[in-house]
Amino acid sequence: MQLEFIQGDITKLKVDAIVNAANCSLLGGGGVDGAIHRAAGPELVEACRPFGGCRTGEAVITPGFRLPCRFVIHTPGPVWNGGSRGEPELLASCYRNSLRLAEENSCRSVAFPAISTGVYRFPKREAAEIALATVRSWRGALPETVIFCCFSPEDLEIYRETAGDSAGFCGSKR
Ligand code: APR
Repeated sequence: MQLEFIQGDITKLKVDAIVNAANCSLLGGGGVDGAIHRAAGPELVEACRPFGGCRTGEAVITPGFRLPCRFVIHTPGPVWNGGSRGEPELLASCYRNSLRLAEENSCRSVAFPAISTGVYRFPKREAAEIALATVRSWRGALPETVIFCCFSPEDLEIYRETAGDSAGFCGSKR
């Protein structure tokens, strides 16, 4: 599996699937959730409505509609409450369940935002460690490429430091 680390706007990526840091209602919100819904258009929330929500750490998949990607995988991350309420395990589940849906839907390329590190206040470095460890332990045949799409240079630097030298850094905006 090829790992890529970029700084950019995940809604612009022409990949098979992008992952949305959603909330449990699946009806949109701010942050990357808001950006994805705005770019996908109103069909996205209509495609999410039948799920009747999604539990933290679980994931659902919809078409990407007006986005350049084929699919959107929606996964509500945990809200940080100090780290002793299962937040690390729930965050790992977000990545694992997203990868599972990506493989089930024959996605060769998947892009992740830094789930839970914005409004949900998960510490960025710990979240990056969990994200990398979970993706690196994935043994499915797909996806072939996982892209960590950081929104700021600071976040990209955190991934750069966390990933170490083995990472394929493509600091450019895809
Ligand atoms: N592309 C890539 N990453 C982005 C983008 C974007 N267009 N917009 C924001 N981000 C980054 C943020 O900078 C942060 O690093 O996504 C990461 C996750 O931050 P949030 O979007 O705030 O998500 P999260 O912390 O998981 O909180 C989820 O916020 O937006 C609401 O409806 C959402 O209630 C849910 C909560």
